[in-house]
Amino acid sequence: MNKSKKIKVALVGIGNCASSLVQGVSFYSRPESTTVGLMHPNFAGFNVSDIEFVAAFDVDKRKVGKDLAEAIFQKPNCTTKFQEVELLDTKVLRGHVLDGVAPHMREYFIVDEEQESVDIAQELRKSGAEMLISYLPVGSAEASRFYANEAIKAGVGFINAIPEFICSDPAWIAKFKEKGIPCVGDDIKSQFGATILHRIVTRFIEDRGHKIDNTYQLNVGGNTDFLNMKDESRLISKRLSKTNAVTSILGEKDFGVRIGPSDYIPHLNDNKICYINVKGKQFGELPFELDIKLSVEDSPNSAGVMIDVIRAMKVAIDRGVSGNLGAISAYYFKSPEVQYRDDIARTMVEDFINFKQ
Ligand SMILES: NC(=O)c1ccc[n+]([C@@H]2O[C@H](COP(=O)([O-])OP(=O)(O)OC[C@H]3O[C@@H](n4cnc5c(N)ncnc54)[C@H](O)[C@@H]3O)[C@@H](O)[C@H]2O)c1
Repeated sequence: MNKSKKIKVALVGIGNCASSLVQGVSFYSRPESTTVGLMHPNFAGFNVSDIEFVAAFDVDKRKVGKDLAEAIFQKPNCTTKFQEVELLDTKVLRGHVLDGVAPHMREYFIVDEEQESVDIAQELRKSGAEMLISYLPVGSAEASRFYANEAIKAGVGFINAIPEFICSDPAWIAKFKEKGIPCVGDDIKSQFGATILHRIVTRFIEDRGHKIDNTYQLNVGGNTDFLNMKDESRLISKRLSKTNAVTSILGEKDFGVRIGPSDYIPHLNDNKICYINVKGKQFGELPFELDIKLSVEDSPNSAGVMIDVIRAMKVAIDRGVSGNLGAISAYYFKSPEVQYRDDIARTMVEDFINFKQ
């Protein structure tokens, strides 16, 4: 078991989320760095500066062959550049396309037809990676399972940031357990995003004795994630994941609910705008209505969470823990194997850090 202080991370899908994460590691590794935006400046003994990117895979010809530090700023990535990144000496390798690129995305993701796909498990082993993060586009059912399997073959941990049900699926968890490696997922829950806000507000309304009659959450944005999700057939797992994330922690489930990505607005770029509406009954069965608007940069919002998840994964590897990391999946992901209220999940994470579980 590798017990070095450095945390060796591999990424698949060098899109906006990967960009914010890689920039964030450089940003918070500066000696003069602030800790604003971090949930845990130090996580069980690990700092953000302990994170290293040792392997990267994508299929877009503007990214393949480039150093990761350059690839993250290539089009169609559009998230805000908040940090210059020095060359990392990690080249983006040509992954396996499978169902990662939807037909309507072919003009946005320009598939590299010149280079052959590399052997992912072999490259993971060669790089010394301890974990693989999947940042594939929504709807990559086959590709997600392919990369998860390569992680298992290589014996590295698997972090599933996307809404494909892998690390919440007992059959997949058993495969990771059998290989003696940890996994976490599914579908990363942004640090201060639509899901966490919607969960907390609806739970609060219920805790205060009110009744929810119906609720919706509309999301719009201008990044390729939103563009990709214009194909409703790729969206089934995303809607399920986002809806269950809210309804699963409520006592009453029999109310009108509609949650999901609603439109692609190009000029918004990586700015995501979310509208939450809740209608219900208060004391005396009188009606109430709540409207919330949240405007955030989408990709850094997931990177702030991933920076904790990576360190949790390293802690688990060092402790020899395998299978789904229940506390980490519950707090940091929308579709964990078991859902907990966020306050409970947060305590579970602190217990994990303090080695109480
Ligand atoms: N706040 C957030 O941003 C957030 C929250 C939850 C989940 N997610 C999910 O994270 C994932 C990544 O989001 P993003 O904004 O970075 O997406 P993106 O569209 O910017 O990037 C996807 C990348 O994957 C690459 N790709 C496509 N098929 C591939 C394949 N088969 N192999 C290797 N690479 C492939 C594309 O070329 C692109 O670089 C999405 O599924 C998204 O829904 C994001």
